[in-house]
Amino acid sequence: MKPEIETERDAKAGTIAMDEIWIQGGRRLQGRVACGGSKNATLPVLAAAMLAPGRYRFTNVPDLMDVATMVKMLGRFGITGERPEKNTLLVDTLNQQNAEAPYELVKTMRASIYVLGPLLARYGEARVSLPGGCAWGPRPVDLHIKGMEALGAEIEIDHGYIVARAPHGLRGGTVSFDISSVGATGNILMAAATAAGRTTIENAACEPEIEALARFLGSMGAEIEGIGTPRLVVNGVRELHPADAPMIPDRIEAGTLLVASAITGGDVEVTGVDPAHLGAVISKLEAAGSSLETSDTTLRLRAPERPEPINVTTKPYPGFPTDMQAQFMALLSVAKGASTIVDTIYHDRFTHVAELQRLGADIRVEGNTAFVQGVEGLSGAPVMATDLRASAALILAGLVAGGETRVSRVYHLDRGYERLEAKLASLGASVRRVRP
Ligand code: UD1
Repeated sequence: MKPEIETERDAKAGTIAMDEIWIQGGRRLQGRVACGGSKNATLPVLAAAMLAPGRYRFTNVPDLMDVATMVKMLGRFGITGERPEKNTLLVDTLNQQNAEAPYELVKTMRASIYVLGPLLARYGEARVSLPGGCAWGPRPVDLHIKGMEALGAEIEIDHGYIVARAPHGLRGGTVSFDISSVGATGNILMAAATAAGRTTIENAACEPEIEALARFLGSMGAEIEGIGTPRLVVNGVRELHPADAPMIPDRIEAGTLLVASAITGGDVEVTGVDPAHLGAVISKLEAAGSSLETSDTTLRLRAPERPEPINVTTKPYPGFPTDMQAQFMALLSVAKGASTIVDTIYHDRFTHVAELQRLGADIRVEGNTAFVQGVEGLSGAPVMATDLRASAALILAGLVAGGETRVSRVYHLDRGYERLEAKLASLGASVRRVRP
């Protein structure tokens, strides 16, 4: 497999792409740690800023590579993004103009496709590269395209680009998804906000990040009903205006930190979270033997010495998130028995299995099901991160593996976690970033 360079910044800096995380396993995690803002909520909200010219102030914005990639993408359209403080992002769309969303950016981050809806809405035309597949298989964008067509756009694929036109403007329509898609729901919401008339989205994604986007659009003047439900109705308005917004907590980062506590038999409180977004994750952690205490903005997990085996099936929200699947596989690889993990969202999302096996995990994959036979202990080894959540899973496994685990290709991790290793170290883990 050839090493992937995730962004131009990586390619230029070179060294960043070479970073490794080295972990000495065996420490029990204890203490309190703050969760950051949600990556997957930030990305569509940034794209939504393209819908109205002006200045925006976003807070609780995580400082990570995918957000930098989105800011860079916005830069292609004349938009500036500045961080006066680490987690505040000022976006200025006053000089925005239409342009192409190029392959070299879209291929590094699929969420770049979020510019399609706003561009069509603002300019009546858009040229956005097709993202292509990713490490764990094809990830189509047919639902995005179908949705835009339902709003009256004409779409053709030209040399790997989606070329979309709505010369007379978008008009409301009914979009009925046969699969629940976070990205397509967000894109259609943005496109529909200023379309003429009423748009209904059936089987809309209900993920908190979509709810956050809908609320942000509402604060820009959009009229959206049914927020948080699978039936969204948008009454198109003539124009939107800029707005400020705090980003919601990152439920996947929070879940990852909870698993870090669970896998080490730890006692960790995660602050700055919304426990309501983590219902399915919390109930699986409880089933695996941990006890959880929640307040409005905190979650404390106390773990037994070894987790109980459980069965996990990923589903659209409020089901168990596919973005927590790899981390749970690490956890269950040291459970007291046999677990199964079924991924119904991404059937091939198992690239972490071979790496976990290198640490001594006993896992067999058949179709979209992983059979995990818990082992008493893992043993540290060099492993390679294959994607964002897989890299988190390997670090989690390293926390309990005997001896040293060295995780390479952590640029995958940096796409979606703000210095996970520093947060784990603050809880007592022996983990550091090394630039060989
Ligand atoms: C988002 C998240 C990602 C998460 C995923 C599922 C962001 C930036 N990323 O990705 O972390 O893993 O939701 O919770 O928010 N599909 C189609 N056609 C399409 C679009 C999707 O068939 O046009 C399928 C996908 O292959 C997948 C399912 O729909 O099987 C759900 O994907 P979707 O919700 O669209 O994922 P993303 O928005 O790309």
